[in-house]
Amino acid sequence: MDGNGKKYPLSMRLLHWARAVIILGLIWSGWYMTSLPETTPMETFDLFYPNHKQFGVLVWLLALVHLTIRWRNRAILPETPSSLKPWEKTLSHVVHRTIIALTLLVPVFGYCMSSSFTQSDGVPFFIFGELPELLPKNDNAFEVFQELHELSAYALLALVVLHVAGAIKHRLLDKGGETDVLPRML
Ligand code: HEM
Ligand code: HEM
Repeated sequence: MDGNGKKYPLSMRLLHWARAVIILGLIWSGWYMTSLPETTPMETFDLFYPNHKQFGVLVWLLALVHLTIRWRNRAILPETPSSLKPWEKTLSHVVHRTIIALTLLVPVFGYCMSSSFTQSDGVPFFIFGELPELLPKNDNAFEVFQELHELSAYALLALVVLHVAGAIKHRLLDKGGETDVLPRML
């Protein structure tokens, strides 16, 4: 059946799918809100920007929780299928690790961008209100973080597309085989 016959712990499966939905929503909302024309009513910006920021901070915290759970369960996690070709194993590890790194970095760049921007409205976080602004205001630094946030977010999207293509390929072509790993994440 699925891979080694083992599943990821329920907490990791729930977190994987919650993070996937939020991250895809953030990439869409980020793309959408930055392509709105200047004539767009202010309420639309006021809906998108604060929510993009607070869900971005939330998904950063969820990534930390996920990493902690992953580390605590490292002895019982499903193994990489042994029948994968060496290049497939390497690709899968590199893609997973880079995705993990980017899910931590993209929100940090977002926070640094907002925190250094002189015109920023701050970074809200649900019932906790505004988060402290830790960086000094500097529009040159803001432009660098803006560029880094954009580049890293679209790099994350490209890797997620590759990740999903891999999952679908193994599901459709190796269904029920050792490399059909989708059931262990469901
Ligand atoms: C995994 C989390 C996140 C993802 C995937 C993400 C993704 C994106 C994307 C794709 C864009 C559009 C970039 C462009 O086309 O110019 C964007 C814009 C933006 N993001 Fe994020 N973001 C995340 C977290 C955050 C966080 C935590 C903050 C702030 C605390 C933030 C603040 C912003 C702002 C202010 C913009 C608009 C930049 C501009 O006006 O040029 N993002 N984000
Ligand atoms: C933004 C979206 C997504 C992100 C950030 C993401 C991230 C990850 C990461 C980091 C892992 C490695 C888990 C670990 O060992 O800790 C993983 C595993 C997995 N993901 Fe995703 N994922 C996303 C979307 C999806 C989607 C849409 C699918 C389904 C088509 C999917 C299917 C899987 C499967 C099957 C595994 C297990 C792979 C294995 O057991 O070797 N993921 N994902």
